[in-house]
Parts: sequence; structure tokens; C-alpha cells
Amino acid sequence: MPAHILVIDDEQNYLLLLDTLLADEGYSLTTLQDPELALEYLVESDVDVVITDMKMPRVSGQDVLEHIKKNYPHIPVLIMTAYGSIDGAVQAMRCGAFDYIAKPFSNDELLLSVHKAVKMSEAEQQNRLLRQSLQEKHGSHNIIGRSQGVRQILDLVARVAPSTSNVLITGESGTGKELIAKALHYGSNRQNGPFISVNCMALNPGVMESELFGHEKGSFTGATVKKRGRFELAHTGTLFLDEIGELSFDTQVKLLRVIQEHSFERVGGSESIHVDIRLVAATNKDLQQEVEEGRFREDLFYRLNVVNIHIPPLRERVEDIPLLAAHFLHTFSQENNKDVQGFSPQAMQALTAYHWPGNVRQLENIVERCVVLARGATIGLEDLPAEFKEESTQYKSAADLLPTEINLGETLEKIEAALIRRALVRSNFVQVKAAETLGISKSLLQYKLKKYNISGKQ
Ligand SMILES: Nc1ncnc2c1ncn2[C@@H]1O[C@H](COP(=O)(O)OP(=O)(O)OP(=O)(O)O)[C@@H](O)[C@H]1O
Ligand SMILES: [Mg+2]
Repeated sequence: MPAHILVIDDEQNYLLLLDTLLADEGYSLTTLQDPELALEYLVESDVDVVITDMKMPRVSGQDVLEHIKKNYPHIPVLIMTAYGSIDGAVQAMRCGAFDYIAKPFSNDELLLSVHKAVKMSEAEQQNRLLRQSLQEKHGSHNIIGRSQGVRQILDLVARVAPSTSNVLITGESGTGKELIAKALHYGSNRQNGPFISVNCMALNPGVMESELFGHEKGSFTGATVKKRGRFELAHTGTLFLDEIGELSFDTQVKLLRVIQEHSFERVGGSESIHVDIRLVAATNKDLQQEVEEGRFREDLFYRLNVVNIHIPPLRERVEDIPLLAAHFLHTFSQENNKDVQGFSPQAMQALTAYHWPGNVRQLENIVERCVVLARGATIGLEDLPAEFKEESTQYKSAADLLPTEINLGETLEKIEAALIRRALVRSNFVQVKAAETLGISKSLLQYKLKKYNISGKQ
């Protein structure tokens, strides 16, 4: 689609001139003599660039500019001024005009400026689309689950996202810590700022400091150019410190100082740099315990842990498994151009009974593999990896377990937990029903749910 340009000038001659000139360049033009009408026109039309005369009766070009900057800040505005009234032009540039052109102008001069404005408008539009798609991709609506645990997290994310409080996300590997960190960012008013992630485990301690805080040219061998660190890059956005439990003691001290003083220096530099960032940290370690054992600074822990979002492991929110599995099935079917519709009841049962040491990531990987290898429309028990068949046969045929070397108590508990999960899934998490199927009282079921850390809806 050609760029749409709105031209406002009380002099008909100029409108005619611009109309011919710009239409010849392939732009789509609207010309209006009355600035008030033009402002009304903007409400309903998609305009990419505005060109306005400065001196007009009643509403001036300056008024038009201010109105547009306030209501449509993405539209570049070109100002035309009569020769000699440069002051107005300077003022207009200060108010955010894209450029000004003195009348009379040469065609080339005008076209050059218009081309630039159109380019800028296109780039702005693309940025907006990109931001929208990032928001779409990482917003909290992508967090799947209906368990109590997930509902509490969603509620917390919605309440905490708009604040600037530091957040510590805890949970086993693969539970969705990064997903939550992004939801916090894209749900905040920092969403147009950057989301910068640092994995404290992947970086070796020697370069950690320069990665985080940047360095000045020549500050150490190999520092041939000045480099901005992640703290600077995250300015106006969110800095996500992943695997924070792996931070060396030295870096912990430095991080604490930055949090307290909101400023830092680049390695080898003396200039104090201030940044406006929101810190979100994540760990699969028990940081409280790390503190008690002297591996993590207590003061830093409290600074990071202003709000704690804990993500329960998948095995403690069994009711999310069918939802997540269906979600991944749908995603990977589409991605692979396959028409896989669902899981057989046995396969779903095996999935819900499994203990998921790798949590949601493991589920995602297994579903992807199943979809890629699927021959039919349904994924059956036989399509799942071997460990699922074993796990599901644990309660099918307990005798199969006897010849192997096993601890009786543990195995019986495993079988009991698996049976309870199965009964819950089959009764759609209605506990009374599940208890009935199992032939036990509701209170005994509830006791066992607690004992095995199984979540069940009330
Ligand atoms: N509730 C959920 N809904 C949808 N997808 C999820 C959910 N939880 C996790 N995932 C997906 O599971 C995968 C793992 O999540 P993520 O990388 O956020 O986990 P993590 O806790 O950071 O893991 P690690 O500790 O291994 O770094 C991602 O692809 C993520 O999109
Ligand atoms: Mg992670």
C-alpha cells in the first residue's frame, strides 16, 4: 500500500503543487485547506505522514503539530514555513517536528524530506507490529494451567507486573520461570523497553563483571573497544538474572551495591552510570538454604526476594498436564503440518501418572517427539517413550515389579500415588468421586494428597 500523506495548507496553490508532485511519486494524497477539518480527518483515517503549513488562520501549524504529537505520536510531521520565519521552524523542531521546509522550496528538497519521513513512519510501524507480536507471544495469556498453583501465579503476575519491585522466581528446572519473567515484563509499562537476560551459570566468573557492567576501552587485555554491559542495555526495561544461585560471592557483593545505589561504573571506568531497570531473578536452588549455608549473601537475598513467585513442579499440579499436553500437541501439529488430534485415554493416563523430573519442558519435548513421529491422528501409549509404559504398568501389574530389586515401601507408595492420580484424572478432579472409586474416605484421600504432594481441585 502506498504511504498516505495528509497535506494542510490554507493556500490552494500549494495544495495543488504538492498533490501533483507527491502523487507522481506514487503516494496517496489527501489535501485539506482547513486545519480544523484536517484534525477531524485524522481521527478516522490512517495517515502515515502529515505536511502542514505554519501560518494559517485560526489554527496554526504549531497547533496542528502539538495536537498530532499528543494524540498520534507515531506520525512524522513536516512543517512548511514562509521564507524568513525561521524562528517558528526552530520552535516546531523543538516540539518534535520531523523536519521543516522553507517556502518556496525546490521539488528535490521537498521530496527528499518526504521520502525520509515516510521511511521513518514505516520503521515506526514495523516497530509497533514487532512490539505487538512480542506482547502477543510473551503475555501472561500464554501461561497455561488451571491448577490452584497456576491461578495463584497468574494473579500474582497481574498484581506485581506494574510495580518496580524486584521479583524472585523459584521453581524446579523446566517449570516455566523464564516464561513468568517475560510475562512480568510484557505485562508492565516497561513492555516497550528491552527485556535483557543474563544466565549467571553460563558466564564464567572472569567475564561476569564486564558482561553485567560493561568495560572501558583498554581496561584489560582484550578490551579493545568500550562495551556496554547488560545493566546498561536493560535501561528502561527488565533485567532477568537467571540461575542467580550460581553467582560468585564477589559478583554478589557488586550486584548488591548496584541495587542499593542504582548506579555503577564500567570495569576500568570512573563515570557513575545510572539506570532505570526492574530486576527479576530466577533460581532452581533453595536460596534460603544457600543463605543458611553461607553460599549466598543474606542481604542480597532479601533485596532480590521482595516478591517471591514460586512455581510448583508439574507432578504437584497434575490437572495441568492434560491442558499443557493438548496445547503442545496443537502447537507442534501446526508447526509440523500434521493432523494429530489427541491422546488415547491410556496415553493420557500415563502422562498424568508420570513424575516429570524435567517438568513442563520435558512434557513439551515429549509431545513434540510424539507429534513428529505420529502415524495416525491419535497418540497412543505405544508412542510414548519406554519410561511411561513402565510407569503406567506399575499399577497395571504390580507383580511385574517383583523380580527387580526394589524397596517395598517406596514402591508401594509410588503405586499408591499413581493410583490416586489416575482416580483424580478419571473423576475429573472431583475428590468425592475419586475417593469413592478408590474405596477410601474423602478425608483419607486428602491426607494422602498432602502426603504425596498431589494437587487436587476441591
Ligand atoms: N504454564 C505454562 N504454559 C505454557 N508453556 C509453559 C508453561 N510452563 C512452561 N512452559 C514452557 O516450558 C518450557 C520451559 O519453560 P522455561 O524455560 O520458562 O522454564 P525454566 O523454569 O526457566 O527452566 P530452567 O530452570 O531449565 O531454565 C518453555 O518452552 C515454556 O514456554
Ligand atoms: Mg530458565
